[in-house]
Amino acid sequence: MEQTLDDITRIVLEAKERAYRETDNEPEPNMASSLNWPIECTVGPGLEGAIACETRIGYVNGAKGWLIYRGYDIFDLCAYSSFEETSFLLLHGKLPSATELETFSKTLRRRMFIPKTQRLLLSFPVESMNPMAALRLGTNLMRQKQTYQDHLSESSSQEALHSDDDSIAMETVPEGKQHPVFQFLKGLFRPVSTVEPTDLVSSDETESCYNLIAGVASVAAAIGRAREGRIPLEPLPDLSFAGNYLYMLTGRRPTPLEERIMDVCLILHADHGMNASTFASMVVASTLSDIYLAIGAGISALSGPLHGGANVEVVSMLERIGKPSAVKKWYRTAMEQKKKVMGFGHRVYKAYDPRARILGPLAGMLATENPELKTMYQTALALEQEVVAHLGDSKKIFPNVDFFSGIVYRSMGIPSDLYTTIFAVSRVSGWCARVMEYIEHNRIFRPRALYTGRFDEKYVPLQDRS
Ligand code: COA
Repeated sequence: MEQTLDDITRIVLEAKERAYRETDNEPEPNMASSLNWPIECTVGPGLEGAIACETRIGYVNGAKGWLIYRGYDIFDLCAYSSFEETSFLLLHGKLPSATELETFSKTLRRRMFIPKTQRLLLSFPVESMNPMAALRLGTNLMRQKQTYQDHLSESSSQEALHSDDDSIAMETVPEGKQHPVFQFLKGLFRPVSTVEPTDLVSSDETESCYNLIAGVASVAAAIGRAREGRIPLEPLPDLSFAGNYLYMLTGRRPTPLEERIMDVCLILHADHGMNASTFASMVVASTLSDIYLAIGAGISALSGPLHGGANVEVVSMLERIGKPSAVKKWYRTAMEQKKKVMGFGHRVYKAYDPRARILGPLAGMLATENPELKTMYQTALALEQEVVAHLGDSKKIFPNVDFFSGIVYRSMGIPSDLYTTIFAVSRVSGWCARVMEYIEHNRIFRPRALYTGRFDEKYVPLQDRS
C-alpha cells in the first residue's frame, strides 16, 4: 500500500502515545530549576553529573525518556513542525510567525548557495578524506569565504566549477571587512523579543548562525557528491531545507515522503543537552573565538565512534547477523565476549530513547518495499527483543537514536560513511543556539584536574641521562 505524509504523522503520534503511556509527567527532580551559583554536585570522570550552565534551550529527562526543545515535546515537533521552524525555535526561543518562517526559510535556502566555498573545498582531496574531516575543513573554508564572499557577491550558477580563482585555499585574502564580522562581541546578541521579521539577519552573530546552518548542509552534500566523482549542486527554490539537502546530496529530487522523513530526522537530531560535541562548541566559543571555529570543534567531537558514529556500526552489525533467526546465537556469543551491542544503551537515557521510538517504525515503514532492508529491519526487531529481554530491566539498556537511523538513511540510498555528516547537518542548529545562549553571559570554561604526578624531580642534563 502506498505510504503518505499522513502516515508519518500517524507513526509519530502513535509513538508519542506509547511514550506517554509508559512515563508519567513529573520533571526529574533538580534538573529543571534555576540555581544559586556556586552549587555543590557530585561529579564523576568525564564530568559526569557536573552542571556547567543553565539553559532554556533543551531538556533531556533520561529517567523517563523525554526530549524537549524550548518547552516543546519532540513528538509534537516531529509530527507538526519542520527543520526550518525547529531551528528558528532553538535559536530565537519561540515558534516563528508565518512571515518569520517564510523569511527564515528563504534565508537558509539562499545561504545554501555557496559556490565559492564549494570551489575551495574541491581543491582538497575531499573524495578520499574522512567525511567528517572534510566537513570540518568545510567550516574553516566557510569562515574564510562564505562570511565575506558567498552571499555578498552576485554568484552565478555553477560558479563553483567555472571560477578562475586558483589560489590555494588557506592563502586567500579575505575580501570585504578586514575585521571578522563573525567575532562575538559580548552583549550584541539580540533577545528574541526584539527580533522582527525584517530583522532576522540584523545581528552579525545571528547571521553567522544562519550561514552555518545552511552552509554545513551544502558542504556535507558536496562532500557526498565528490566521493562519487560528481560536481556540487545548487539548491532548488521549491524544496524545503531537508529536500534540498537530499537533492544536493543524491542529485535526485526526493519524493515528498523522503523529504518529510529527512525533515523528521533533522528535527530529531537538532539538540540533545550537554553532549560532548555541544560542550566542545561551547568551550571554544567561551574563549571568544568565533562561531565557525566553535562549530568546527563540535564537528570534530561528533566524529568519534562513541558519539556520532554508532549508526554506521549498527548497519554493519545487522549485516553481519544476516537474518532474524541468527540473532539469538549472535547475541549469546557477543555477551560471552563481553561486547557492547551497537545502538543500545545511553549515558543519559535509562528508558527508551524517544528518538528511537520514532525512528523504529519509520524504518519499518520504509523497509516494506525492499526485501534486503526488510530482512535488516526484522533482524533489528529480533535483536531489540533479545537485548531488552536480557538487559532492559537489569541495566536499563534500550535502543538509542542510532539503532534505527542507519536503516532509514540506507532506504534513501545514502552511503553509510556519510551518516555522521547528516547528524552534523542537523546538530549545527543546536550547537549555534547553545553557543549564542552561553555567550550572552559568557565565562570561559576552566575546570580543574587533580594532579597525581610527582614533585621534587631533579633535572638531569641530557648527556647525563642513562
Ligand atoms: N550492550 C551491552 N551492554 C551494555 C551496552 C550495550 N550497548 N551499553 C551498556 N552496557 C552495559 C555495560 O556493559 C555496563 O555493564 P556492567 O555494569 O555490567 O559493567 C552497563 O551497561 C553500563 O554501561 P556503561 O558503558 O558504563 O554506560 P555508559 O553510560 O558509560 O555508556 C554508551 C553509554 C552509549 C557509551 C554505551 O551504552 C555504549 O557503548 N553503547 C553502544 C554504542 C552506541 O550505541 N552509542 C551511541 C550512543 S547514542
